[in-house]
Amino acid sequence: MGNNGSESNIKHMKNVKHTKHRKKEGGFSGQIGFVMAAAGSAVGVGNLWRFPYLAAKDGGGLFLLIYLILAFTFGFTLLTSDIAVGRRTGRNSINAYSEMSPKWRFLGIVTFLVPVLIMTYYAVIGGWIVRYVVAFLAGQGNDAALDTFFGGFITSPIQSSMFAIIFMLITAWVVFNGVEKGIEKYSRILMPVLLLMIVAIAIFSLTLKNTDANGVTRTGLQGLAVYLTPDFSHLTFGRLMQILLDAMSQIFFSLSVSMGIMITYGSYIKKDVDINTSIHQIEIFDSGVAFLAGMMIIPAIFVFEGIEGMGAGPSLMFVSLPKVFHSMGIIGTFVGLLFFLMAGFAALTSCVSVLETIVANCMEIFHTRRKPTTLVLTVVYTIASVIVALGYSTFYIELPLPNGSTAQILDLMDYISNSFMMPFISLLSSILIGWVIGPDWIIEEVEYGGKKFGLKRLYAVMIRYIVPVMMFILFLQSAGILSWFE
Ligand code: PFF
Repeated sequence: MGNNGSESNIKHMKNVKHTKHRKKEGGFSGQIGFVMAAAGSAVGVGNLWRFPYLAAKDGGGLFLLIYLILAFTFGFTLLTSDIAVGRRTGRNSINAYSEMSPKWRFLGIVTFLVPVLIMTYYAVIGGWIVRYVVAFLAGQGNDAALDTFFGGFITSPIQSSMFAIIFMLITAWVVFNGVEKGIEKYSRILMPVLLLMIVAIAIFSLTLKNTDANGVTRTGLQGLAVYLTPDFSHLTFGRLMQILLDAMSQIFFSLSVSMGIMITYGSYIKKDVDINTSIHQIEIFDSGVAFLAGMMIIPAIFVFEGIEGMGAGPSLMFVSLPKVFHSMGIIGTFVGLLFFLMAGFAALTSCVSVLETIVANCMEIFHTRRKPTTLVLTVVYTIASVIVALGYSTFYIELPLPNGSTAQILDLMDYISNSFMMPFISLLSSILIGWVIGPDWIIEEVEYGGKKFGLKRLYAVMIRYIVPVMMFILFLQSAGILSWFE
């Protein structure tokens, strides 16, 4: 118990005993089942689409370095907290926070709002992937490799809405019928296949070579150097803060932390699961896929577009990958189809976990049953997805963001949830865990049953001092307040 817990809190916490795996029906089969399910939620468009475009926008190596440092310090701390809170309380986010301290129930509610926002645009990106599956199926791989293909697609109101609706309905179908368990079975086969494909495509990307109209030849290996070598020249304080915020927001999104999902997952795991080892496995898997996705996309964009192409933003994966497949010749159509199918599957497992969390929470809040709840949410999110998809045509806006990019509706939702709300949530939950109930409460849970928690000192220092300070700074940065002082 932390020294700083007030008397009433200590009394309250004593009542929150180590739960004996309250949610028996939904429990995971064991350590591997849990790690696979958590990885299924974690590995998605965040790794394949979001990570490479942020890494390219922020100059490759420097972003990568900062990302890896933050992932194994902040990511580790936040993931440990979420999973241990979930297992110790046996509740999902809203009730877990009120159980930790009744006064902090509001934090559970704010946490729940993050997946509510993410769900408005996740199906839109899923729809983009489905569009490419259809293109490769129809043998339009060559068209997909044209610069105008992606832009033409997302600015077409009918097409972009239609594909977002298709992806949304597939997700809703899975959640409605409660077949996530079946999906997990396929995950065990398809996730490793996806990983193998990414490795193979990444290796192929390194062999690319192209001479542009100005006669400049660029190679995949030069692109790899851009991806791996941190460039500290032109680094200003403002830019460092932007990169920090981008990397941190990516960690939140990619690991699905600080949004209640991992609390819910934690509540499903048995007491004999080694939380510490599971967390390292999830982290290594998630960062590994992101790293390889970058290796597959960044050298390719460098070869075909040069450094100027790196700022392409959200379109990056969809513009550069089809070019890689195109340059593979005839086999590229097949590889492209298979890749986008796997990516669609990874996106589906993540999207299902977002919608599932929202459904589960709404059922508890409104005391409703699964099917009607899913139906109502499907209608709401289908409308929301169409509005977000139309953000590139009918509802086009150009909104400058404090991270230096210009946002359409999708980027705005992404920014509010990942860059703005999540530092705020992590700030408050680190104060709750670090100072109100004390880090020992989490450490005890990780060590339950004599398990080892090798990094517990790091955890305690991170959660009490470093996380709150850093999150406060990032929150000011994300709100645009810090840039006033530059
Ligand atoms: N972590 C997922 C990804 O990287 O694509 C995205 C995600 C899944 C976000 C689940 C939120 C969530 F609740």
